[in-house]
Amino acid sequence: YVRVPMADVAPMLAPEGVDDESLLFLTDILPTGWQGAEHCEIKGGEVIAVWGAGPVGLFAIQSAKIMGAERIIAIDTVPERLALARTYGATDIIDYAKEDVFERIKEISKGEGADGVIDCVGMEASAGHGVASLVNTIQEKLTSTERPYALMEAIKAVRPCGIVSVPGVYGGPIPVNMGMIVQKGLTMKSGQTHVKRYLETLTKLIQEGKIDMTSMITHRSTNLADGPDLYKTFRDKKDGCVKVVFHPN
Ligand SMILES: NC(=O)c1ccc[n+]([C@@H]2O[C@H](COP(=O)([O-])OP(=O)(O)OC[C@H]3O[C@@H](n4cnc5c(N)ncnc54)[C@H](O)[C@@H]3O)[C@@H](O)[C@H]2O)c1
Repeated sequence: YVRVPMADVAPMLAPEGVDDESLLFLTDILPTGWQGAEHCEIKGGEVIAVWGAGPVGLFAIQSAKIMGAERIIAIDTVPERLALARTYGATDIIDYAKEDVFERIKEISKGEGADGVIDCVGMEASAGHGVASLVNTIQEKLTSTERPYALMEAIKAVRPCGIVSVPGVYGGPIPVNMGMIVQKGLTMKSGQTHVKRYLETLTKLIQEGKIDMTSMITHRSTNLADGPDLYKTFRDKKDGCVKVVFHPN
C-alpha cells in the first residue's frame, strides 16, 4: 500500500499518450531544475553558469536553454555527466577538478562574470581546483558536507548585481561570503521547489517534445530488491549512473 498525503491536491492526471518515463521527473527534479533557471530571470542572451551536472543541473541547463540563455556553462568533473550536459544545451563545459572555474567563466563572459549562477550541488560539494582554500579559510572546523564549495565559487563568478540561484539543498548554517554578496549587490533565490506550480507548463513542454527527460535514465530495474545496490551505484557515480528508474512488476 502507498499512503498519499494531500491526495486531493498534489497528484495530477497523467495526459493520454505520454509514457510514464517521460512524466516521471515532473515529481521533483524537473521542476527543481526549472525553478533554478527561472530564478535567474532569463530574458534572452544571458550567460548562465550551472554547478553540478546531476539530474537537477541537467534540467536547469535544459530549462535555461528553453528560456533563451545564450551561453550555458556546465561545471562538474564526471565525464559522462558533462557529456550529457552538452546534449541538454550547455555551450561550455568546465571540469572543476582540472580547470580554474572562476577564470574560465571570466573569459567566457568577457570579464564581466555570469549573469546568473545556479548551485545544483548543495552541501555535498567536493572541493575543486583552488576553491578549498577559499572556503577553509572562512571556517576550518567544518565537516566536508558543510563546506559550500560550489556556492562560494558561484558567488565569486557571478557578475555585480547578478543572481545567485540555489536549488542545491543545505541543512543548516554554512559559511558564505556575505561581504561579497553585499559589495556586489547580488540577489539570492532559493527554496524547496514549488512542484505543483510548474506542472502544467512543464507537462505541455513534454507533450510538445521540447523537454526530453528519458535520456538521463542510465539504469532500469523491475525488481525493487535491487534498490540498495542501485542506490550505491548512483551515490558513487559508478557504471556511468545518472538516474535509476524502477518499473516494479
Ligand atoms: N530545492 C529542491 O526542492 C530540491 C529538489 C531535488 C533536489 N535538490 C537538491 O539538488 C542538488 C542536486 O541534486 P542531484 O540529484 O542533481 O544530485 P547529484 O548528486 O546527482 O549531482 C550533483 C553533481 O554535483 C557535482 N559536484 C560535486 N561537487 C562539485 C563542485 N564543487 N562543483 C561542481 N560540481 C560539483 C557532482 O559530481 C554531481 O554530478 C542536491 O543538493 C539535491 O538535494 C533540491
